[in-house]
Amino acid sequence: MSEGTTGNPATGRDNAHQDCEIAELVRLATSAAQQAGALVRDRRPAGLGVERTKTSPTDVVTVMDHAAEDLLREVLTAQRPGDGVLGEEHGLQPGSTGLVWVVDPIDGTVNYLYGLPTYAVSVAAVRGDPMVPGAWSPLAGCVHNPETGQTWTASAGRGAWLDGQPLRMGAPPPMERALIATGFGYREARRRGQARVLARLLPQIRDIRRQGSAAIDLCQVASGNVDGYYERGVQAWDVAAAMLVVTEAGGRVSGLEGRPPSPDMIVAAAEPLCGALVAALTAAGAGEDDPE
Ligand code: IPD
Ligand code: CA
Repeated sequence: MSEGTTGNPATGRDNAHQDCEIAELVRLATSAAQQAGALVRDRRPAGLGVERTKTSPTDVVTVMDHAAEDLLREVLTAQRPGDGVLGEEHGLQPGSTGLVWVVDPIDGTVNYLYGLPTYAVSVAAVRGDPMVPGAWSPLAGCVHNPETGQTWTASAGRGAWLDGQPLRMGAPPPMERALIATGFGYREARRRGQARVLARLLPQIRDIRRQGSAAIDLCQVASGNVDGYYERGVQAWDVAAAMLVVTEAGGRVSGLEGRPPSPDMIVAAAEPLCGALVAALTAAGAGEDDPE
């Protein structure tokens, strides 16, 4: 089907409507992410502590994660009351339009807690069911780091930008010269498995970076600050917006063995590095945790 004449089945609209709607979604994603970013940066309470923990004692939530998610939900539903919203802290509020906002109020909460500047608000508009790997696709997204002011945006089929400047990924280096970002989960068995995989991968690459925000890791693949990224255990809210930034900048985002990216594994880089990483991670058994 030619997109030039008949429109895109992903949005179910003709092209003129589609352009307008997607541009509007990017604007709303950006405005919401920047408002939430200003809130978490400017209203951080003195002596910020852990409000509660989730999957392990190191998987933390602060009052500001909640406040920022509340703000995101308010801003998004005020503009688009029929859309669903899936957020890291409050789960899924179903909608009626088929479009779901997938939001992470603070990606990099541990950095935020410690006063480190690598964290971001992530807002994506997706079509499909974001709870089912492979059953959804992002249409528009924004990842905003309120500390550096960096704002990555992307729009399906229309491009990716950092602070308004178009992003286009160049040819990647071979694996032995590639700088690869990754992250680690919060549970012990998952971490043992991740350490085992890292021990296999590290001698095959230039080096590893662990910055503490999956959304920023992916955006930095698109911006060329790292060559690739992989991680086991990230959820749709961590990556929905940033995946679109990578693919719209010309990179590939994949799971292992032809599967879509999912909490089992996400790998991102320009080709042929993405394929080489997938092969190395598969050989290292990266799709499995160690026994509990
Ligand atoms: C985490 C960050 C981290 C990644 C973890 C995520 P959170 O998100 O993205 O880099 O390694 O897997 O859970 O908990 O800060 O929102
Ligand atoms: Ca997150």
